[in-house]
Amino acid sequence: MARPVQELTVGELAARSGVAVSALHFYEKKGLIRSLRTAGNQRRYPRDLLRRVAVIKVGQRAGVPLAEIRAALETLPDGRTPTVADWARLSRRWRAELDERIQRLVHLRDDLDGCIGCGCLSLKVCPLRNPDDRLGEDGAGPRLIEP
Ligand code: FES
Repeated sequence: MARPVQELTVGELAARSGVAVSALHFYEKKGLIRSLRTAGNQRRYPRDLLRRVAVIKVGQRAGVPLAEIRAALETLPDGRTPTVADWARLSRRWRAELDERIQRLVHLRDDLDGCIGCGCLSLKVCPLRNPDDRLGEDGAGPRLIEP
């Protein structure tokens, strides 16, 4: 029986998207993509899923966790494939998150500079061991031991 041209097998989706079959199954298990089932219980994917997979790949490349990508895709009505406007909105949000992550990493790198060659890992002075003296804000004493 001929299948609709708008549907792809998992192998076709993998070949067209550049994503491994195992990764596509993983995306499906995590709720990022959905398949249809044939009468013989084989997976079929709507052709427009290629764009959704592209968005997932780009999000991952930008370091966005899969759970956040899924949450972003869930904001689209009826699980539709992101439109140009959707993608513009998502990419703006991810850009802001990427900027924040870069800032945190720059800060971490600068703190690490002070630790290179030191080795003290002191709660009092090491910015990586106790950033911003968080334990000191809880009060004096052995904060790591007391519940
Ligand atoms: S290891 Fe000494 S300041 Fe971090």
